[in-house]
Amino acid sequence: MNGATAKPRILTGDTPTGMLHLGHWVGSVRRRVELQSTHECYFLLANMHAFTTRAERSDEIRRDTIEIVRDYLAMGIDPRQSAIFLQSEVPAIAELTFLFAMLIPFNRVMRNPTLKDEIKIKNLGDTYSFGFPLYAVGQTADILAFRPVGVPVGEDQVPHLEMTREVARRFNQVFCGVSEHAEDGEHEALGGTFPIPSADVGPVGRLMGIDGVQKMSKSLGNAIFISDSAKEVQKKVGKIFTGRQSPNDPGDVTNALFQYVEAFIPDQARVAELKDRYARGDNIGDGHIKQEVAEALNTLLDPMRERRKQFEGNDDLIIDILRDGCRRANRVTEETLDRVKRAAHLHFFARRLEVG
Ligand code: TRP
Repeated sequence: MNGATAKPRILTGDTPTGMLHLGHWVGSVRRRVELQSTHECYFLLANMHAFTTRAERSDEIRRDTIEIVRDYLAMGIDPRQSAIFLQSEVPAIAELTFLFAMLIPFNRVMRNPTLKDEIKIKNLGDTYSFGFPLYAVGQTADILAFRPVGVPVGEDQVPHLEMTREVARRFNQVFCGVSEHAEDGEHEALGGTFPIPSADVGPVGRLMGIDGVQKMSKSLGNAIFISDSAKEVQKKVGKIFTGRQSPNDPGDVTNALFQYVEAFIPDQARVAELKDRYARGDNIGDGHIKQEVAEALNTLLDPMRERRKQFEGNDDLIIDILRDGCRRANRVTEETLDRVKRAAHLHFFARRLEVG
């Protein structure tokens, strides 16, 4: 906790790779909207990380970054409460990345299962940039720069959180004299610079895509986007693959379609009834269930579409939100950097960088 009366702090973020989709909503953004009145929230746009695989399309990264802010606002993130900021405008993150890279074995980074999956899924082979594995170290810096208590993320980010916890423990042990045997919860009280943050994974850690096989992802072409029209949503839900033939076949209630039923139909009694009839094959077709899912989704997305309209075509407003978010982020991260430098004997004099 940051100060006796302050709200607990959280940090999370997204790499700008295109529009946000329902997987982002259930995996993390829904949780952020819930937490923003009770927590001090920082939401990072990992625009430098986007350069790991798209450096030659930096114009696209910039556009995607602005569009993500629109999606955040549409989904209900309130910039007066939460700081929305650019990774590239928070210098402490880059400085901490360099230092943290010294605290973690190279082979440990390469064993990170999320990195390994990405190398496979994105077909990166062995020609990926040096910056690609470095981004995992960078993510530990994104997080620790804020000394947060929790990080709301989808399941795929949990290995990054595990690495972050290792870096935080190691920093506290090497530079702050915290014992190797200290419990995670004791680190700060024992003089550690960093609390050991935990991953806050929501009830739907990994939403399936409409192909019914892979997790929802823009690059796999199986995503329903926050900005899709009602018609598009209807069409995409119609495609969710189950393999079931007839309304009288006993259905598998762990399939992708039922994941959507559980995630998006708010009436729990109705969810239980649908599940029961589907499992028994009680004259209930996939088409009917898809219809109910599409309606529930459009009820959820309608207010988001309305809100998004207000921010369409107004880049200046988005830039103002980012400028303010970066200012708030830098206030916290410069304080962290100062503490880090003192602990690691890198403090020689007070630094005030002001140019122009
Ligand atoms: N790697 C995350 C993603 O691709 C984005 C990210 C970057 C992030 N830094 C972070 C998430 C820090 C949580 C905390 O979605």
